[in-house]
Amino acid sequence: MQTESSVQPVYVTVGQASPGELLAGKRVVVTGGGSGIGKEIARAAAKQGAAVLITGRNGEKLEKAAAELNEQKQSVSCLAWDICDFADMPGVLQKAEALLGGEIDCWVNNAGIYPGGYSFRNTTEAVWDRVFDINLKATCFVSNAVANYLIEKGNGGSLLFISSETGSCAYTNPYGMSKAALNSYIKGLAYDLTRYGIRSNGVAPGITVSDINPRDTAGDLHAEPIIGRMLLPEEIAQTAIFLLSDLSKCINGEIILCNGGNCIPVEYFR
Ligand SMILES: NC(=O)c1ccc[n+]([C@@H]2O[C@H](COP(=O)([O-])OP(=O)(O)OC[C@H]3O[C@@H](n4cnc5c(N)ncnc54)[C@H](OP(=O)(O)O)[C@@H]3O)[C@@H](O)[C@H]2O)c1
Repeated sequence: MQTESSVQPVYVTVGQASPGELLAGKRVVVTGGGSGIGKEIARAAAKQGAAVLITGRNGEKLEKAAAELNEQKQSVSCLAWDICDFADMPGVLQKAEALLGGEIDCWVNNAGIYPGGYSFRNTTEAVWDRVFDINLKATCFVSNAVANYLIEKGNGGSLLFISSETGSCAYTNPYGMSKAALNSYIKGLAYDLTRYGIRSNGVAPGITVSDINPRDTAGDLHAEPIIGRMLLPEEIAQTAIFLLSDLSKCINGEIILCNGGNCIPVEYFR
């Protein structure tokens, strides 16, 4: 039985953040930040007061993106790095700290590839390996290192993953399966890290305009079921910023579908 003297108070700091300063003072790394969804997350994070580092394999593309993002304010730096090169993560984290000017608070695992046109009919072992190597294996090993880094620093922090609606849909392209497995990892990490004040969440976009899914030649956002159009990377970035900010402090282990309701299960004969 609990007596009055054995009851311990619990103190809670409710997350506060002002519009325009949702990530003020935070240092954020966005993998694959040179284009598409990652670039828009980087843009939005910088706009909300963060120092941002974008990474990717193509150094020239990164430099160009950083220059564009820095047009308003110098807060975005870049680092050419293939996430499959995760053997020296302490070295990568050190470089990231140097470029950001201090300890990392948030890590966005956005880098990923999509091999279009594959199903159970024609998937080769090479395609399977490439997709799983980048979207799952490298992403998980990189995140293991980031999680250990954040634990060691002792200041909490946040990992965010760009999954996909295909991770919760029927899909025999290895892409969807890599994202389904990633969803399990996101939740597992959240469970393991919550005691350290570190959060792990995901955003699962529907079909979004990017290099993976360019607009058609007429520039149209061709129709998607339910929402009736493709999504914009800027829209996905809004949810990402919310999940990185202290406004979502009580959200952990969630994967938020950003697809305009495309996966709502419906009764067939409705
Ligand atoms: N567009 C969609 O419809 C959609 C829908 C659901 C989920 N997603 C997910 O959203 C994320 C971003 O994709 P996106 O649509 O914005 O396409 P994107 O513009 O092609 O962005 C992908 C980025 O990842 C980088 N990347 C790929 N492999 C890498 C590696 N091994 N190491 C480092 N960087 C790597 C690419 O840069 P480099 O080539 O310079 O390395 C590129 O900047 C992906 O995880 C994708 O699966 C996209």
